Amino acid sequence: MADNALDQTLAVVILAAGQGTRMRSSLPKVLHRIGGRPLVGHVLDTARDLGPAHVAVVVRHERDQVADAVLGVAPEVIVVDQDEIPGTGRAVEVALDAIPGFEGDVLVLSGDVPLLDADTLMDLVRTHRESAAAATMLSAVVDDPTGYGRVIRGSDGAVERVVEQKDASADEAAVREINAGVYVFQAAHLRAELAQVGTDNAQGEKYLTDVIGLLRRDALRVAASVARDVSVTLGVNDRAQLSEAGRLLNARTVRRWQLAGVTVQDPATTWIDVTATIEPDATILPNTHILRATAVAAGAVIGPDTSLVDCEVGEGATVTRSDATLAVIGAGATVGPFSYLRPGTQLGARGKIGTFVETKNATIGENSKVPHLSYVGDAEIGRGVNLGAGAITANYDDLAKHRTEIGDEVHTGSHNVFVAPVRIGDGAKTGAGAVVRKDVPAGALALSVAPQRNVEGWVEKNRSGTAAADAAARARSAEKAGDGAQ
Ligand code: UD1
Ligand code: CA
Repeated sequence: MADNALDQTLAVVILAAGQGTRMRSSLPKVLHRIGGRPLVGHVLDTARDLGPAHVAVVVRHERDQVADAVLGVAPEVIVVDQDEIPGTGRAVEVALDAIPGFEGDVLVLSGDVPLLDADTLMDLVRTHRESAAAATMLSAVVDDPTGYGRVIRGSDGAVERVVEQKDASADEAAVREINAGVYVFQAAHLRAELAQVGTDNAQGEKYLTDVIGLLRRDALRVAASVARDVSVTLGVNDRAQLSEAGRLLNARTVRRWQLAGVTVQDPATTWIDVTATIEPDATILPNTHILRATAVAAGAVIGPDTSLVDCEVGEGATVTRSDATLAVIGAGATVGPFSYLRPGTQLGARGKIGTFVETKNATIGENSKVPHLSYVGDAEIGRGVNLGAGAITANYDDLAKHRTEIGDEVHTGSHNVFVAPVRIGDGAKTGAGAVVRKDVPAGALALSVAPQRNVEGWVEKNRSGTAAADAAARARSAEKAGDGAQ
């Protein structure tokens, strides 16, 4: 966003310093992923959509890992280190120190509330500015408020304070209006009140939520905006909530593509990362994963039971019951069922990678086919080629990988081994069972299997008394009888 488009009176603070104990994980909570992105990545993305003058992210637990992840996607962000004083209030206090002199509105977001959308936040900021409140918080009325702070309102309906679950009386705990952990504050009031917040509570932490009660005590206005869609306020504290957030995000993503013209037969078993793109009139069949930077072109049919990671699928291509990573599949090509495309696979237009075929680092030209039971690795295959069933590129000699080069219009026999490095010229052919160790010139027929020799009567002589010998004897006498009848 251009500088002049920034809202100079808005700063965003994202809280990401907590350990996330309830995740029981060595990975910091905010780096757990949904929709192909870490939780904090979703929050950052939404924050940037608002065009704030500053974005500060507060870190402490595994600070380098979190800071690297944040700066990797948003280098303009100010990373702020929280000190040993724990709590969301302290986190915001250190963030404010990093933007001294800022006197506008401070939007506080949690790194573990990933589904909030920019529209909801813009509404919140607008409500805050229109009501000229010292603070405006986002709340939600939920069926099960367990784990959240409860919003306590006075007899006049105005917000009085927020009480954490661990500090709540039975009456307070029964309140179903929860604090989403998202607020807009006037910077000056926030600074002044945070200085008053102590740590005398069940968790011994400096709670940001205490600011709400303090503002009210000072007779300042606190507004609350109740979220229309409670799912956007979901906080991720444990792995059950992580999967729930992932499911909600996915449902949102699938619906977005459906409205854009993509047929998704079964949203419940279709997983699409937020980073993937799909053109109209593509069809996604059940149990399919479209992940990372995958791009699916118009009219392609993907699935069922297919996983694509960082792939490019051309117009009208089909990929059935297959797994592919970092592969390019040309327009009108077909893949599967049961293909495994590893990184560096490039299948040309109208090409085919068929049943039980593994490919890696292989370019397969236009109209070329590898239909059955094959391994093609470190290979360059021209146009109009057909590799017979059971083709194997023997690319590795225990020391290094070597390339197989196959020209245009080559047809190979079944069960061939190409011992790389080896080159097969345009239009050449190979016989069944060939082990191709030497280059084949253009237009040649390569045969490497010794001519077949039949040793007549071998079985009856060497295996007499076996069922095979008996069968052979019967066949031979029937043959003789047939000869005699003529
Ligand atoms: C917090 C709120 C609660 C609200 C809920 C919404 C407080 C005291 N409570 O509770 O009212 O209903 O969020 O999801 O604010 N963090 C820091 N530094 C810290 C502690 C936490 O940066 O010292 C960060 C965490 O990384 C996390 C966020 O703040 O991203 C919220 O912390 P968490 O411990 O999950 O708070 P909740 O118990 O969920
Ligand atoms: Ca939380």
